Amino acid sequence: MKVEILSNFIKSDSRGNLAVVEGSKNIPFDIKRVYYIWDYPKNIMRGAHAHYETRQAMICLKGSCKVTFDDAKSKKEIFLDSNKSILMIEPYVWHEMQSLSDDCMLIVFADKEYNESDYIRSYEDFLDIMKTGNAS
Ligand code: TYD
Repeated sequence: MKVEILSNFIKSDSRGNLAVVEGSKNIPFDIKRVYYIWDYPKNIMRGAHAHYETRQAMICLKGSCKVTFDDAKSKKEIFLDSNKSILMIEPYVWHEMQSLSDDCMLIVFADKEYNESDYIRSYEDFLDIMKTGNAS
């Protein structure tokens, strides 16, 4: 499974850093929705779902976390601790965010409006869908 990490979106000069996220330019889709996540109870996991269609791009603005990806054939783990990387989260990839530091702030750009029916929230359903193309 290929997990894409994008970079080269930071403009740095003697005054500091500026990051630009532009739809269909430095991320590969038009941005329809932006949300951010912060302030977690200890040992909590976020995510734990896959999407049918929604494409997302995530930046860890502050702090750190571990993101695991699972396409039902293989798993991959990415440690996110830099706001200089954009992590792509593609459809049909189960993803979980864990080991969230107290100060971890994640911002996510999505190419679609929020729609609960685009979520696969059961891991068993996810495995079934990936095997057969059908939800149980
Ligand atoms: P959830 O998908 O559980 O968050 P995470 O991916 O971080 O685990 O979303 C939490 C709640 O927020 C849930 O009730 C759905 C709602 N929500 C929206 O209303 N709009 C959105 O764009 C998102 C991402 C979630």
